[in-house]
Amino acid sequence: MLYDYPQYYEIAFSFRNIEDEAAFIDKCVNRFSDIPVRRIFEVACGHAPHAGELVGRGYEYTGLDINRNMLDYAAYKWRSLVPPPEFIEGDMIDFRYAEKVDFAFVMLGSLYLNNLEDMTRHFNAIADILNPGGLYFLDWCVQFADPMVPRARNNVSMERDGILVESKFNTRLVDSARQMYEEVWTVNVDDHGRHRRFEMIERNRAIFPQEFLLFLESRTDFEFVGWWHDWDLEQPIEGHADVKRPLVLIRRK
Ligand SMILES: C[S@@+](CC[C@H](N)C(=O)[O-])C[C@H]1O[C@@H](n2cnc3c(N)ncnc32)[C@H](O)[C@@H]1O
Repeated sequence: MLYDYPQYYEIAFSFRNIEDEAAFIDKCVNRFSDIPVRRIFEVACGHAPHAGELVGRGYEYTGLDINRNMLDYAAYKWRSLVPPPEFIEGDMIDFRYAEKVDFAFVMLGSLYLNNLEDMTRHFNAIADILNPGGLYFLDWCVQFADPMVPRARNNVSMERDGILVESKFNTRLVDSARQMYEEVWTVNVDDHGRHRRFEMIERNRAIFPQEFLLFLESRTDFEFVGWWHDWDLEQPIEGHADVKRPLVLIRRK
């Protein structure tokens, strides 16, 4: 698993503009949150790339992930942040957190919910921790395009500190009726002449936009706020056929 090697994962995805993405979160809070936001909670935080920016903007940060290596890497990386971020190990489908939070988010399509029951349990868990009026932000988790089009760039080559990480993404449909597809992610690493190859297959269920709205309507605890593309609140998705990076915002009632 590449997730067991957080440093390589971090390099592979270092093409992102983390500062802009954190600024987008800040804009969502300022424009759409019904409550003041103190604690922010990230689902599937991985190495928590946004923790530094968010704490720098005055928020308290908690990250949840299922992978211990990722959490240890994140805790070490952000050890000198004040207030210190909190990292908890758990499954997004069913987790507990003793505190309430004011904003939750999930990045990079990292919502791994393989059926309606998992989806219901996940949103129940978020509803339990999120204060009424607080927002839940989902990056790339609702599929506006054909899910066969990979959610990340097809071929990415990134280099840092003498480590070269080359990633290739492909997607294949495995069960049309269940909207299940697999993302096949092949990563080649050249770490100062030491070569490693990772092949990861992530099975996921596509969540389509109108299905997502119906899902929200079937619940009493969340309301739809809006959806935009490409980190731009001036670009709502409505009326566009070509959606680059769907960003969805909902609010806890
Ligand atoms: C694509 S990475 C995203 C990491 C980080 N949020 C980012 O933006 O780079 C997906 C993360 O989801 C975590 N993950 C996978 N299944 C999970 C689950 N059921 N519950 C919690 N985390 C999970 C993995 O361990 C991995 O760190």
